[in-house]
Amino acid sequence: MLGVCYYPEHWDESRWETDARRMRELGISFVRIGEFAWSRLEPRRDSFDFSWLDRAMDILANAGLKIVLGTPTATPPKWLVDECPDIIPYDVQGRPRGFGSRRHYTFSSETWWRESARIVEIIAKRYGHHPGLVGWQTDNEYGCHDTTVSWGPEDLKSFKRWLRLRYQSTDQLNEAWGSVFWSMEVNSFDEVTLPNLTVTEANPATRLDFWRFHSEQVAAYDKMQCDIIRKHSPERWVTHNFMGFISDFDHFKVGDNLDLASWDSYPIGFVEKFPFSEEERNRWAQTSHPDIAPYHHDLYRAVGKGRFWVMEQQPGPVNWAPWNPVPKPGMVRLWTFEALAHGAEVVSYFRWRQATFAQEQMHAGLNMAGLDELSPGGLEARQVAQELAVLGGLPDTQQSSVALVFDYQSHWMTAIQPQGRDFRYEELCFRWYEGLRRLGLNVDFVRPGASLEGYALVVVPCMTEVDEAARSALENASGTVLIGARSGSRDRNFVIPENLAPGPLADATGNRVIQVSTLRPGLSDTVSGKVAGAGSRWRETLEASATVLARFENGDAALTEKGNTLYLACWPDQTLLESVMTLAAEKAGLDTLPVPDFIRIRRRGSLTFAFNYGIQDWPLPEGAVPVLGEAVLKPQAVAIWKNAC
Ligand code: GAL
Repeated sequence: MLGVCYYPEHWDESRWETDARRMRELGISFVRIGEFAWSRLEPRRDSFDFSWLDRAMDILANAGLKIVLGTPTATPPKWLVDECPDIIPYDVQGRPRGFGSRRHYTFSSETWWRESARIVEIIAKRYGHHPGLVGWQTDNEYGCHDTTVSWGPEDLKSFKRWLRLRYQSTDQLNEAWGSVFWSMEVNSFDEVTLPNLTVTEANPATRLDFWRFHSEQVAAYDKMQCDIIRKHSPERWVTHNFMGFISDFDHFKVGDNLDLASWDSYPIGFVEKFPFSEEERNRWAQTSHPDIAPYHHDLYRAVGKGRFWVMEQQPGPVNWAPWNPVPKPGMVRLWTFEALAHGAEVVSYFRWRQATFAQEQMHAGLNMAGLDELSPGGLEARQVAQELAVLGGLPDTQQSSVALVFDYQSHWMTAIQPQGRDFRYEELCFRWYEGLRRLGLNVDFVRPGASLEGYALVVVPCMTEVDEAARSALENASGTVLIGARSGSRDRNFVIPENLAPGPLADATGNRVIQVSTLRPGLSDTVSGKVAGAGSRWRETLEASATVLARFENGDAALTEKGNTLYLACWPDQTLLESVMTLAAEKAGLDTLPVPDFIRIRRRGSLTFAFNYGIQDWPLPEGAVPVLGEAVLKPQAVAIWKNAC
C-alpha cells in the first residue's frame, strides 16, 4: 500500500540499484517516475535518449517495484518553447509567463496539443508493455501554479471557436450574456474580447463561459493523453495527480477519463493556502488542520469513482509555503493511516531523497538531502510499512451515510460575483464538512446531478445553478436534505431566475429569497429557535411558506423545513453550523459520535480509525478494543478497532 516518487535522472546511475533495494527494504511497492524528464528523453527535436530510462525501469522492476510512469508534459523543454512560442500561457494582465519552472503551457494552443500527443505516443509505445509498469499518470497537477486559465492570443482564438460552436449566432451570444447592458453587443464572433483588462467589472456571463471553456479544455486535453496511452498500453490503468484546493476546472470531468484519481497531500503546506485565521494557522502549524487531508481524500474518492491514491504524501517540511515547519513526530505516520482509512489504495511519498540542488532543496524526502539515510519522515514510513504488514489487508470502504454535493461551477460563479468579499465557496464547503466530521460521520462527496440514493443525509452548502438533473436528484433523495444559502440563485447564463432564488428549488424548500445582505467581518445576526448561533457574511431575507425552525433577531426566517428539506438562509458561524449539523443528523436518524476538535474518526468497512491532531490524550469510546494503538489515544497517535462500538 506504499509508494514513493523517484527521479533517477537526479542521481548518478551507480546509486539506482541501492535506491531500489532500499525502497523494497523499507516496505515500498510502487514507484512513480518520469513526469518531468522531457529534456532528458528528447534533448533536441526528434533526437531521443531512452537508454537511461530503459535501464532505470529495468532496475526498479527487477527489484520488485511496480512502476507508475508519468507523461512529461508539465515541463516542455526549452528548445520546444523557443521553437513554438505559441504554447506559452499568459497571465491575467496579458503578460506571457516565462520558461524556467514548470507548467508553462496553455491548454488552448493547438501546437501544444500536437506536441503533447507526439511525446505521449512515443513514450506510451515504448513503455506500454514494460513488465514493471502498472499504470500511468497524465501530466502533473493540472491547474497548479494558477495554470488553468490563460489570457493570451491563443486563448482568445480558441475561446472564439468554442463560442461559435456553443452559440451558433451572435444574437444568441448577445442574448445569453445580456450584452445589451453597457452596449457590449457584438456583430461577429471576431469581435469577442477576453474578459480581462476591462475598466471595471467584466460581464459575469462572459467570465463564466471563459472559465467553463478552460475547464472543458483541461478535461479534453487529459482525454487526449488517456486515449493515446490506452491505445498503446491497454492493460495498464491511468490516473492524474490532482492538487489540493484547486477548483479552476471541474475535476469530476477529468475523473471521467481516468481509471482512478490520485492527489498530492501536503497537509501542512495547505494550512497556509486555506483562509484560516492566524490563530488557527498557528494552532495547526505542525499537524495541519484535522480536516484538510480528509476533505481531499473524500473529494478525490468521488472524482475517481470510488478509487483513489495519494500520489504524493508530505514526508516532512515542504519548501513552497510562506513558512514550512517540521511536522510533529508521528504526523507522517498519522497522515498515511488516515489516507488509508478514507479508502486510499496506495500512499506514495514525495520524494525518495531530498534534492541537494535546484528549486526544492528545502523539501524533505524519505531520505536526507543527498544521502542513503532515512529522514525522520522516512523512519515513520518504515514503521507504517511494518504495521501494515502485521495488520494484513484492509476491508473495502463503503458508501457513507452522508453526502456533500460539491460543485466546481458554484466556486466559479461565487468568485466572479462574490457580493461580499469573503464569500468563498471552498471555505464554506470545508466548514460544512468539518461540522459533519465533528459528529464522527463518514462523508462522501457527490457531483451535482448524481444519484443521492442510499444517503440518510445530503448537504448542499451552495449550488448556484441548479440544473434539471440536480433538481431531480435532490427532489428524489429519500434522506434529509440540507440546502445552503445562494442555491438556485442563477441560471446557466448567470441570470436571476424568474421566480427569484432558490429558483428550481422553490417547491422543495418552500422559500423565495427577496433580499440579500452581505456582512463585513465583525458583523453578524443572531439566530435562535431549534438551532442557535449567528449568521455572518451572507444573510437572506426569505418569504417562507415552509415551517420556520429558527429566526434572525428581527424575526426573519433563518432555518426552514419543508418535508425532508431544510434550508439555511445564511453563512453560519461555527456555533450555528454545529447546531444545524446536529439537528440535520438527528432528523436523518444518524448515530453520531461527537468528537473534540482535534480528534477525527473514520470507518473503513469493519474497522474504525481514530486520529489525534491535538496536544491532549483522548480515551477511545467504551468497548473499542484496538487492533492498532492503545485505549488512550495520545497526541499524534492512531488507533484502529473493529466496529460495533
Ligand atoms: C507537488 C508537485 C511535486 C513537487 C511537490 C513539492 O505539487 O507535484 O512535483 O513539486 O509539490 O511539495
